[in-house]
Amino acid sequence: MQNKIIVAGIGPGSVEFITPAALKQIRAAKFLVGGRRALKDFSSAEQVTCAITGDLDAALNFVREKISVDNVCVMVSGDPGYYSMLDLLRKNFPPSTIEVIPSISAMQLAFARISLPWHAATLASFHGRQPTRDVLTFAPEKILGLLTDAEFNSATISKLLVDEFNWPRNSTMTICARLSYPDEKIFTTTLELAAIAEAVKHCVLIVRA
Ligand SMILES: C[S@@+](CC[C@H](N)C(=O)[O-])C[C@H]1O[C@@H](n2cnc3c(N)ncnc32)[C@H](O)[C@@H]1O
Repeated sequence: MQNKIIVAGIGPGSVEFITPAALKQIRAAKFLVGGRRALKDFSSAEQVTCAITGDLDAALNFVREKISVDNVCVMVSGDPGYYSMLDLLRKNFPPSTIEVIPSISAMQLAFARISLPWHAATLASFHGRQPTRDVLTFAPEKILGLLTDAEFNSATISKLLVDEFNWPRNSTMTICARLSYPDEKIFTTTLELAAIAEAVKHCVLIVRA
């Protein structure tokens, strides 16, 4: 039987949000790949591990080498199907060798935290990319759910939405940072105030008129 790359979503961060299915695969893995924090939380001394750093080629080479021996489990944050290393793995390995264990995305938890359904929301990511104009342009009933990064953060995105995408200055922005961790912080402000306040970098933003 062919060995598999098991891409296991570990949820937004705290161990209480990981699914039993992901945990089972992570615990059973001989070879485990993941961010340093995930390896600290979930790996055991018997496992051969590879930390995902800026050097993604190193992680890909580890998978390439170990897959000939046994399954390799790759832990990714949130849900693997939503902006994760799954894209890169599919470009480098036949999709038939990849098995995905879904999990809770930071986006899902952000909407859950403010008790707001997300089925009608427009979701997009600024994490190392820029959403298209139609996604960001204001419409009266629109609800935006956005992933951010260091450059495109709560302040720069607020300014961008008002200056270039016609959002009213008094639209609300809910900033959801460190979701699921003990220091989780969620607060609601306006685009006008968020644009001049200290930037919150890696977070989920929910914007409504
Ligand atoms: C590369 S994306 C990964 C998304 C992930 N696959 C998911 O489904 O949540 C990284 C971005 O997700 C958001 N994010 C991930 N974990 C988070 C958390 N615990 N709290 C707030 N935002 C988070 C941030 O916008 C971060 O820059």
